[in-house]
Amino acid sequence: MAARSAAEAPGRGCPIGYRYGAAALSAPASLRADTLWIAGGLYGNAEALQRLLELYEAEQGDKALVCNGDFHWFDAEPACFSTINRLVLGHVALRGNVETELADPAEGAGCGCAYPEFVGDKVVEHSNQIIERLRKVARNFSTELQRLKALPMYLVAEVGGERVGIVHGDAQSLAGWGFSQEVLACAPGRAAAQESLAAANVRVFASSHSCLPVLQSFADGRIVVNNGAAGMPNFRATRYGVATRISVRPAGGALYGARAGRLHVEARPIDYDHAAWQRRFLALWPPGSDAHQSYHRRIAGGPDYELPLARRAA
Ligand SMILES: [Fe+2]
Repeated sequence: MAARSAAEAPGRGCPIGYRYGAAALSAPASLRADTLWIAGGLYGNAEALQRLLELYEAEQGDKALVCNGDFHWFDAEPACFSTINRLVLGHVALRGNVETELADPAEGAGCGCAYPEFVGDKVVEHSNQIIERLRKVARNFSTELQRLKALPMYLVAEVGGERVGIVHGDAQSLAGWGFSQEVLACAPGRAAAQESLAAANVRVFASSHSCLPVLQSFADGRIVVNNGAAGMPNFRATRYGVATRISVRPAGGALYGARAGRLHVEARPIDYDHAAWQRRFLALWPPGSDAHQSYHRRIAGGPDYELPLARRAA
């Protein structure tokens, strides 16, 4: 048997079934609303989901909530898994790599994260162990897994007459990192994103997956917005998740925002009950566990990333 290359190792590679290409997003819109809330990366945080739903319910007018993947992750307990699945699937949902690797695992994909080189091997190993533990819980929910398997990988929405592409990863694949803050920090990454916006004929691409938020404007009036994680802190010394709001009208309380044509694109804080979530997390993932080793520091005090870095002008 041939040895795997580093790029093919579980958690590193991108399964063939994840790929669609930006041209697939040039399809007609399947969702229309005056206001969209887009929340990727809840990561099994039941408290964050509860707060997200409260904020969404308070939104007035014609609206839709899209959970664009990775709503499961730390919820390796049947009641929590079941509740999150039911609440999320009561709205519009895309499958992320987590849901895909639970419902329809690709041979050797591990967590399906397609982690790039700048993510260390330890993180990849922990993620592969977390998905294994979550699979043991999920296998008792066959009906729910069938529903997860049937979820789309992307969708196009129309907001105020503008087209919005919604993905989990990037314009090319479900687990792509092309809309990560790291890739968008480089000129070639921004050029590729602009090409994808044009190929999909969208005003805005909204993504998640890479776990840190970024709102990148372009000179032609288009935007790539990545909400980072709705269910984990996204900035140093903070304890709130982030969701994306795209609307024909602005709302108060945004962390930062930008205009794209007729649209107001905003990052909204999801100020969940940190103490309750921390208790739940520690009960499931105590010190020494894979999730604790990879994520507890971030859950308690945020990542090494500053809020002003997320808003990037053209
Ligand atoms: Fe993901």
